[in-house]
Amino acid sequence: MDRFEYRDGRLWCEGVSVERIARDAGTPVYVYSSQTFLDHFRKIRAAFEPLQPLICFSIKSCSNLAILSLLKEAGSGFDVVSGGELYRALRVGADPSKIVFAGVAKTDREIVEAIDAGIGWFNVESEAEMENLIILAGRKRRVIHAALRINPDVDPKTHRFTTTGKRETKFGVDLERARAFFERFGRNEWVQLGGVHLHLGSPVNTIQPYLDAIGKALRLIDELRNAGFLVEMFDLGGGFGADYEGFQAPTALDYARSIVPLLSDRSLRIVLEPGRSISANAGILVTQVLYTKQSGEKQFVLVDAGMNDLIRPALYEAHHFVWPVVTSREPPAGRNNQPFEGAVLADVVGPVCESGDFLALDHYLPPVQRGDLAAIFACGAYGFSMSSQYNSRPRAAEILVEKDAFRVIRQRESYNDLISAEI
Ligand SMILES: Cc1ncc(COP(=O)(O)O)c(C=O)c1O
Repeated sequence: MDRFEYRDGRLWCEGVSVERIARDAGTPVYVYSSQTFLDHFRKIRAAFEPLQPLICFSIKSCSNLAILSLLKEAGSGFDVVSGGELYRALRVGADPSKIVFAGVAKTDREIVEAIDAGIGWFNVESEAEMENLIILAGRKRRVIHAALRINPDVDPKTHRFTTTGKRETKFGVDLERARAFFERFGRNEWVQLGGVHLHLGSPVNTIQPYLDAIGKALRLIDELRNAGFLVEMFDLGGGFGADYEGFQAPTALDYARSIVPLLSDRSLRIVLEPGRSISANAGILVTQVLYTKQSGEKQFVLVDAGMNDLIRPALYEAHHFVWPVVTSREPPAGRNNQPFEGAVLADVVGPVCESGDFLALDHYLPPVQRGDLAAIFACGAYGFSMSSQYNSRPRAAEILVEKDAFRVIRQRESYNDLISAEI
């Protein structure tokens, strides 16, 4: 699952003690394992190897330059959804032809920047966006490639805030309108519409939604090809699961075993946009216990990380496994929340002035006290990248471990960082 493991009652990331990192860098701190990023990237690449896909790591899940650089060196392309993410990809020297750009409301500035950069594919989400893309590409006299993001109306069975492939969401174009979309735009001189894109949601911990959506997309592609349109690329989006608790996500091989046979011999350039399945298990958030407290029947463990550092529990009711960094009792192998003798049942909560500021609810923990360090697992995806300065809390530091060395890849913000852009 990852390269975080307990040895003699202490948590290690690869060859470095997490306690040492926390003492050195302070808390809260994100700690990433470079090897885990690479392991997951390579597992996906190996599993889908028969399709020779272009794997575009989804920057939104974990956007630090050091991590993008690591994945670029491993051969990854990038999925971007904003001008800022495009800037990051270019800053690490990404091959622009390996960049795909999705997003339901791209601004003119973002589109022009992407045209200038020469990115591989624009994933277009509406007729209005396509009209605009044609105007902007024509003005620059640049031929660009676009794929139509379809909305396959498949339920990915995930949280409603991260469901994107159902008809009632804002993403993509309905299948019924897709054919008309190609009729209207499929022969444009500036924007070559040559692909189909979809993204179901995230995380999609079952494989059937992919099979349903791919089936629908392939029927559309056949229909379009029969009508004379050149469809050369199919982008399946992201959404593969990660192991938050237990071994809950199918492996890359599980997904590939079902998906690859559907797409072999289709003469399609396949693109994948995995984010979480590469980054989630590659990072933890380390926090320090400030206080413990009882209120009625309830036990609270108050820590120095809050919803501004990790918003997933508050936003998506996501569950993250928490455990002391130094402990006489090692966690269960699958890191699932379960009772054990001597356990304290507690809510692990942060310092932010919101009742929604929790990191784990009803969690079974070994007894902890003020000053103890705790690790919040599987925070590499949508952890730091969704963090904020809410409550005027400087953002946490980020540390990258490579074998038995570690380095700061983002400094802890200072109070001055909170106000430096203000006039
Ligand atoms: C278009 C698109 N591609 C890829 C992803 C990455 O999803 P995940 O991190 O679940 O793989 C997302 C996430 O929201 C997305 O919107």
